[in-house]
Amino acid sequence: MTSTTGMRTHLCGELRPEHVEARVALCGWVGRRREHGEHLSFLDLRDHSGTVQCVVDGSVDVRSEWVVRVEGTVRLRPEGTVNPELPTGEVELTDCVVEVLSEAEPPPFPVDDRAEVDESVRLRYRFVDLRRPRMQRNLRLRSRVLGAMRAAMVRQGFCEVETPLLWTPTPEGAREFAVPSRLNRGKFYVLPQSPQIAKQLLMVAGMDRYFQIARCLRDEDLRADRQFEFTQLDIEASFVTERDVQDAITVAVVEATEAAVGEAPSAIETLTWHDAMDRFGVDKPDLRFGMELVDLGEVFSATQVRAFAAPCVKAVRVPEGAALGRNRLDGLVDRAKELGAKGLAWFKVTSDAPVALTSPLDKVLSDAERSGIVSATGAVSGDLVLVVADEWRTACEVLGQVRLDLGRPPVGQGERRFLWVTEFPLFDGTDEDGNPRSAHHPFTMPHPDDLDLLRSDPARVRSQAYDLVLNGWELGSGSIRIHREDIQRRVFDALGIPPEEAEARFGFLLGAYRYGAPPHGGFAVGVDRFVAVLSGEDNLREVIAYPKTQSGTDPMTGAPKALSERALRELGLRVTPAGD
Ligand code: AMO
Repeated sequence: MTSTTGMRTHLCGELRPEHVEARVALCGWVGRRREHGEHLSFLDLRDHSGTVQCVVDGSVDVRSEWVVRVEGTVRLRPEGTVNPELPTGEVELTDCVVEVLSEAEPPPFPVDDRAEVDESVRLRYRFVDLRRPRMQRNLRLRSRVLGAMRAAMVRQGFCEVETPLLWTPTPEGAREFAVPSRLNRGKFYVLPQSPQIAKQLLMVAGMDRYFQIARCLRDEDLRADRQFEFTQLDIEASFVTERDVQDAITVAVVEATEAAVGEAPSAIETLTWHDAMDRFGVDKPDLRFGMELVDLGEVFSATQVRAFAAPCVKAVRVPEGAALGRNRLDGLVDRAKELGAKGLAWFKVTSDAPVALTSPLDKVLSDAERSGIVSATGAVSGDLVLVVADEWRTACEVLGQVRLDLGRPPVGQGERRFLWVTEFPLFDGTDEDGNPRSAHHPFTMPHPDDLDLLRSDPARVRSQAYDLVLNGWELGSGSIRIHREDIQRRVFDALGIPPEEAEARFGFLLGAYRYGAPPHGGFAVGVDRFVAVLSGEDNLREVIAYPKTQSGTDPMTGAPKALSERALRELGLRVTPAGD
């Protein structure tokens, strides 16, 4: 559909000098209105495309946010009144006839991007909030991303299949939302954390290449990058390698980026999980800035400094960090301890030849150690070097976080640096019973070389799982799946899930594997996070039409709400007071 409809000929933001003398009809909301005496009024008319100035003879009885239709003639603005800030700023509408389509109460806050408005007020009046140019831009960018992703998957031979929302528990780590069944009293559906099992069954069903723009639901603590409801570009494919899956997703995210922001990202790099941790101290490195972690193991291999006699000594160079005062440095030490380190040593480089350091530890260092710190990190006079000595993982993680604290640019600044992180460990930590926990989910195929470690040394088993990272955000995850019942049972066993429990929870999946399961793998991109980074927003609420607040409510609808006694009775539910 063009901008012309039965009611209007153009959109407000479209008008340019080329339209001069055209008689046009526009529809929209009244923005600012100025009266010039009795004879002349100016009003800004706004629709989603922008704003244009209308000049009305005499005064006109409209107010802010009233909905109007204006017929008028386009003319060049008189000299001296051109507004270079506005794309329509060279023209205006004259000889206007204004028809009121809808009156409006004064808006709860001004409809412009400058207004600082409380979050709960914005969400309560979301329909007004979404009129703001920034929100319009974000939702439209989101739509382009979804459109480009769908087109890219269809073109690559993927078939779109919708999977149920009323589903059954799946083991992906998050708490699930339950829905009571009226027809099967006392029983519950579970809303899917993702279509994981459904899509794997589609592979057994011979669908070969599946995709879905899937709504997922997880009852997690809400954070800037987490909502209860979110959207994934979810895919699964048969007879594929990790690389095949990554290539298909790469096409989708590159084309979506182009559609969203008009430029393709640079080539996507790949790092193994181990290298990502070792160099950046995190499994989702932000590559927009340097400050890579440096190994000082050699420098301190024969050290007399007790604090550095640890399995791993790592450092990060903070360019020009020597300017940090004592309070900031003490703050960094506290932060490192909070993050699990025993301490954090700092060295201010005050001259690089001969090396001079300022640090509480300076006196106990040997000359070789002093110059080793500087040469290994490449520090120069004026820099600060931060050192953590600990187990490898702790040293990396603590310095990785400090690196982010000190160097990370805001979202939306700098280039877009995508990254594949591969060879994740199969397990990550242990649960309260001491059993290993899946790093991704229990259907992830172990690395073929590590199958024998499943029992003897589970912590060392690598997996065929991979993540996609963008500017330090985990955009998505995927893996090659276990398609053989015997390996799946071995992994359940390693996870401490007894066979009866595995049967009760996933019997339908294991059963299906007996009927001919192809090797398969897949991926899911978190669309909300992707759109947030592309829009330069640091909170998912800014790219979702109707998000929930931090406490999980929707101030506009009042959800969640109590159910009537009758509805509860029908569902066979009784609500007990909190604490029971
Ligand atoms: P995973 O659980 O890693 O994998 O989720 C994939 C991506 O979904 C996004 N995401 C979220 N976005 C917003 N709010 C949330 N609460 C939220 N949780 C996750 C993230 C994340 O990287 N079934 C597997 C995928 C697969 O193996 O194919 C899965 O869901 O961007």
